[in-house]
Amino acid sequence: MTENFYEHLFGVRDKVALVTGGTRGIGLMIAEGLVRCGADVYISSRKTDACAQAEATLSRYGRCTAIPGDVGHVAGCRKLAAEIAQRSDKLHILVNNAGLTWGADIDEFPEKAWDKVMNLDAKGPFFLTQALLPQLRAAASPEVRASIVNVSSTNAIRPSGLQNYSYVAAKAGLQGLSTQMARDLNSDNINVNVLAPGPFKSKMTAPLYANADIEKQVVEGFTMGRWGAMEDAAGLTVFLSSKAGTFLTGVVIPCDGGATTIG
Ligand SMILES: NC(=O)c1ccc[n+]([C@@H]2O[C@H](COP(=O)([O-])OP(=O)(O)OC[C@H]3O[C@@H](n4cnc5c(N)ncnc54)[C@H](OP(=O)(O)O)[C@@H]3O)[C@@H](O)[C@H]2O)c1
Repeated sequence: MTENFYEHLFGVRDKVALVTGGTRGIGLMIAEGLVRCGADVYISSRKTDACAQAEATLSRYGRCTAIPGDVGHVAGCRKLAAEIAQRSDKLHILVNNAGLTWGADIDEFPEKAWDKVMNLDAKGPFFLTQALLPQLRAAASPEVRASIVNVSSTNAIRPSGLQNYSYVAAKAGLQGLSTQMARDLNSDNINVNVLAPGPFKSKMTAPLYANADIEKQVVEGFTMGRWGAMEDAAGLTVFLSSKAGTFLTGVVIPCDGGATTIG
C-alpha cells in the first residue's frame, strides 16, 4: 500500500487508459479526469483534426495521445487495438464511450439507422474489447484489476420521449453484454461495468440547449436542475477504475442526478 491512503484508494496514476470518442462531450470529460489524475491516456475518434485538438487541450493537464480511428466496424476496432499494442503492452482502463443516436418516427424508422447505431453502440464495444484482451489481461492482477467501463444511457433503463429505437436496443444490449463479459472475464481479473449517463451537454444533446429559453425549460425538468458535469462522468470512471471500485463488476450505474431513481 502506498503511504498516501487517498492515492491508494482512488488513484489511477500511471495506469494506461483508452477512451473511445474521447475528443468531445462525455468522452472528453472522462479523458480529462483520467489525465488530471495522472493516468497515461489514449483517446480516439474518427476525425484527425478533432483528435489533434483534444490531444493539445488535454496535454495541458498531463499525458494524452490521440489516435484517429473508427470503432463502428470490426476492422477499425482491430486497427485501433493494434495502434495501442504498438505503444503499450498493458491497458488498465478501457472506456467504450463512442456512440451515436438516431431519432425517427416508429412508422418510418430506417434500417440504415438501425445498423449504424447498433454497429457503433453495441458491436464496437464488444469487438474493441476482444481485440484489446491481450493488453487488458497483461495489465490485470488480483491486486490491481483492469477496468472496462461501457457507456450506456438512462434511455436503456427508462423510456424517454425520444423515438430512438435502435439506440435503446443497442444500449440495453450493451448492458446485457457487459454482465456476460463481467462473468467471463472475472477469472482474468478484469471488471466490466456500465456507466449510464443522464443529461450531459454535448453535440448529441445540442438541440436541448439550442437557445437560452429552450435550455432553461429543459434544465428545470432535470431532477437536480442541472446538467451532468465533467466531475460526474470522470469521477465515476475514476472510482470504477481505482482500488475503491475493485469490488464492483457487472453493474449498471446511472450517472443522472437521480433521474431514473427518483424521477
Ligand atoms: N450526452 C448525453 O446526455 C448522453 C446521455 C446518455 C448517454 N450518452 C452516451 O455517452 C456517450 C458519449 O456521448 P456524447 O453525448 O458525448 O456524444 P458526442 O458529443 O456526439 O461525442 C461522440 C464521440 O464519439 C466519436 N465517434 C462517433 N462515431 C464514432 C466512430 N464510428 N468511431 C469512433 N468514434 C466515433 C465522436 O468523434 P468523431 O465524430 O470524430 O468520430 C465523438 O468524439 C455515447 O455513447 C452516448 O450514447 C450521452
